[in-house]
This record gives sequence, C-alpha cells and structure tokens, in this order.
Amino acid sequence: ALGATALAHAQDYPSKVITMVVPFAAGGPTDTVARLLAQAMSGALKQQIIVENVGGAGGTLGAGRVARAAPDGYTILLHHIGQSTAPALYRKLPYDPLKDYEYIGLVTEVPMTLVARKDFPPKDFKELIAYVKANKDKVTYANAGLGSASHLCGTLFMSAIGTPLTTVPYKGTGPAMNDLLGGQVDFMCDQTTNTTSQIRAGKIKVYGVTTKTRVPALPDVPTLHEAGLPNFEVTVWHGLYAPKGTPKPVVDKLSAALKVALQDATVKQRFADLGTEPVALDRATPEALREHLKREIDKWGPILKQAGVYAD
Ligand code: MLT
Repeated sequence: ALGATALAHAQDYPSKVITMVVPFAAGGPTDTVARLLAQAMSGALKQQIIVENVGGAGGTLGAGRVARAAPDGYTILLHHIGQSTAPALYRKLPYDPLKDYEYIGLVTEVPMTLVARKDFPPKDFKELIAYVKANKDKVTYANAGLGSASHLCGTLFMSAIGTPLTTVPYKGTGPAMNDLLGGQVDFMCDQTTNTTSQIRAGKIKVYGVTTKTRVPALPDVPTLHEAGLPNFEVTVWHGLYAPKGTPKPVVDKLSAALKVALQDATVKQRFADLGTEPVALDRATPEALREHLKREIDKWGPILKQAGVYAD
C-alpha cells in the first residue's frame, strides 16, 4: 500500500511540468507522435508536458535515462517497437524493458515505407531489388541505430534479399531524411509519420509499404507483400512508460490522460494525415502495453538472433 506521503503526492499530481523523453532526435517520426500526444495530454492533465529528445544508441540511451529517473510521474518515456528489439541486440542493455518501468498504455501503430532519394535509378520494387544486388557495395541505407525501427526493417529487408548493405546510422530518421532529401544517402525504411508528406510532395521515391494492407493515406503505394516480398510486415507500435515504482494513482492519471488524448480531434486528424491512427481505447492501458511488449520481445528475439545482429 502507498505511504501517506506518496498518497498525498499522488493526489496533487501533476503539480509541476512533466518531461516526455523521446529516445530519438527531434524532427523524426517518434518525435512527431510525442509532440502531438504531449499537446493533447497536457490539456487533459492541465499541466505542461515538455518533450526532451535524448537520441543515441538506437533509442536505448533515452530509454535507459527514464528507467533510472525518479519514479514520481514527472519523467515519462514515449518509445516504440525498439523497446522489444533492444534486448536481442544489446547483450549489456542497462535496463530491462519488462522490469524497469510502469506501463501507461499503447498509443499508435505506424506503417513503414521503403523510400529512396528522388533520383535513385530503380523505378519500382522489382528494379530496386536488382539494382541493390548489382550495386551492393555502392548503395547506402540510412537508419537510426541498432534498436530503431528503421534498423529493424532494414535488417529484415537485407536478409529477405540475401544482401547485406552499407548502413549509415543517425540519431533519428529526422536527420536521416535531411540527407535523403539532399541525396547524400540512397534509401531507407521509415515510418509514414516521417515520409508521407515528402512522398506526396514528390521529394522522395516510395517503393512500398510494410503493412498487410495498403495505407489509406498512400492509396497508390503497393504493399511490399504485393510488390514481391511475401509476408514482409513491420508495424511500429508506440507505448508510454514511467519509471518502475511510480505510484499507481499517478500511473492511472497518466493512463486516463492518454485515453483523452487519443480521442482528441486534432490528434486523430493529424495521425490520419500521417498514415496512422490511435489504438483502440482498450489497448491504451497498462496491462495491454505490458502484454504487447512481452509478446513482441518473444517474437523479435529469435528473428534478430538468427540474423546475427548485435550492437555490443
Ligand atoms: C526509428 O527508425 O526507430 C525511428 O524512425 C527513429 C526516429 O523516430 O527518429
């Protein structure tokens, strides 16, 4: 049971600014989801939520920072599928995703797109495979480090075509997109939250989406499954976490505010424009997030171990 002080603290929570840590650089897809969510949740909590970008090590730096933060509800973490792949990629991970957090709820599941710089020669997915194989020592693939969604998608893509490629790591796919737009890097697999507007503006090429069915915001883009990579599926789910030991009444307030935010008209509209949607409210719960995380750790562990990819 909660001590009297903890209970008093929980009752007047939140009484000061809350920090939402994003474990990737500003301007990327995770940051985009975080800023929309922070805006809507601060309205529900009547307290400011500021987003702090802590990039590096494929998201594990920021995730570790929150695992070690004071469990008072004033530091929370918005992270994605990388919470479930890091345990297979880092033999010395400084936190345990299943033990070092309280779980607030699932947020959204974002499709990915295989995109390239505008003047990359292949004009469709079939040509892309042939070109990449023929130029495997020349083409460069951008990602946000081991533990990022762009790294996971790239690893699956390279093993599907049986061709390892030179990868260029960034602190997030925000900075990676800048180099793709400038032609400094050839292609990457990134979330629609970061690629949809550039695709629509014709500033980058798109070869397919990584979901089972087409993305309504990108109706003309084939799924990679259709385009010739059967059963290739990666969806980047996002969750909200607090440090282990954060009092339950505080976690409950955060989970309630999350549910309000996921019903916010602006959040729903912006998510739809960016090719995604809020999760159903019965998944925006501590239990749903923890169960999903456990399932995903069990799913990706063997796949990544088989790909023989380690960060350390
Ligand atoms: C990823 O690849 O995990 C994300 O796109 C990184 C980011 O949000 O910048």
